[in-house]
Amino acid sequence: MIRYIDDLQLTGKRVFIRVDFNVPMDGRRITDDTRIREALPTIKRALEMGGKVILASHLGRPKGPDPKLSLEPVAAKLVELLGGKHEVILTDDSVGDGVKKQVKELKEGQVVLLENLRFHKEEEANDEAFSRELAALADVYVNDAFGTAHRAHASTAGMVPFVKEKAAGFLMKKEIEYLGKVLKNPEKPFVAILGGSKVSDKIKVIESLLPKVDALLVGGAMAYTFLKAQGIEVGKSRVEEGDKLALAAKLLDTAKRLKTPLVLPIDHIVGTEPSDKSVAKETPDQVIPPDMMGLDIGPKTRAMFTQRIRDAKTVVWNGPVGLFEVSKFAEGTRSVAAAMSINTQATTVIGGGDSAAAVEQMGYADKMSHVSTGGGASLEFLEGRELPGIKALETK
Ligand code: 3PG
Repeated sequence: MIRYIDDLQLTGKRVFIRVDFNVPMDGRRITDDTRIREALPTIKRALEMGGKVILASHLGRPKGPDPKLSLEPVAAKLVELLGGKHEVILTDDSVGDGVKKQVKELKEGQVVLLENLRFHKEEEANDEAFSRELAALADVYVNDAFGTAHRAHASTAGMVPFVKEKAAGFLMKKEIEYLGKVLKNPEKPFVAILGGSKVSDKIKVIESLLPKVDALLVGGAMAYTFLKAQGIEVGKSRVEEGDKLALAAKLLDTAKRLKTPLVLPIDHIVGTEPSDKSVAKETPDQVIPPDMMGLDIGPKTRAMFTQRIRDAKTVVWNGPVGLFEVSKFAEGTRSVAAAMSINTQATTVIGGGDSAAAVEQMGYADKMSHVSTGGGASLEFLEGRELPGIKALETK
């Protein structure tokens, strides 16, 4: 069983909230603040309940203290998103006497943000002494960092047993509910769309979803590996050779055995290379000419995918179906996002990462039932794996 933040009494307590503020940055500028916005309900609730709020996150993958990866821009963004009503005190470090003092002296309405946890290598090493130091800052532990739940680090797993009370925040709750529903009791028909470049990244999720879905639609570069595995000519398309071709063939066999349609593109948008400047060309069928590479699904495939998605009651999508960063190869990805958003009563879940970035960029994010804030975490969740950050929250 997992308790949630509103099951706890927080008045006067030091509430340590592990958030995932690992946001995309361009230099020191935050380019997407979704993860910060999504953590606001939990932060606000802890403040309303009279808790002394301590926020903790990593940013990037520093190899030690690195001013370029300070959470300072995040602190400034948080002040703005909290409507200027709360002072956010960014500490110099995430542990130590200075931090303890700052937490002790917190005044009503103030929030402490610990400096980047990964400035200490002990964070990723899940070091016990470091875990205990973090735990010493807290009376209550709340995890709202779904995006980091697949990491067994000090702040997501190690420190949890050393804090008296523990709970999940609202974002964590929403992620577990939506992704959990997809895996455990999806309303049928249930359709999954998987894209991205490599079959090898998605094997486990394909294996996990094949027995559950009514159809698995495959796009993106990984579709070319599946096509080649069936002996279809894919020209210069990006393909994983060698044992990955055998693996793709095996997954196609599994789908056949389960009688689950594994639906591959029936036409393509092609170019001579990703940066091809000429007008995008369509292929008449599945075959890609020898001097061309597939870069998006074609119009017939778009129509076929759209129909499958429209007929579904549950849809989950992970991975763009084309090179959507280039506008002439973005139509496939846009059509999937549109089919999931327009005239549908289905529960629609975006499995984070690039597909979340695509629906955000194309303006469909608020039309989905749920857009996961986790990239790696949502993929591992959909693979059916137990995430250490969630497991640590379980009580008997
Ligand atoms: C993510 O962005 O996927 C999480 O914040 C985890 O980051 P990591 O892959 O560097 O552990």
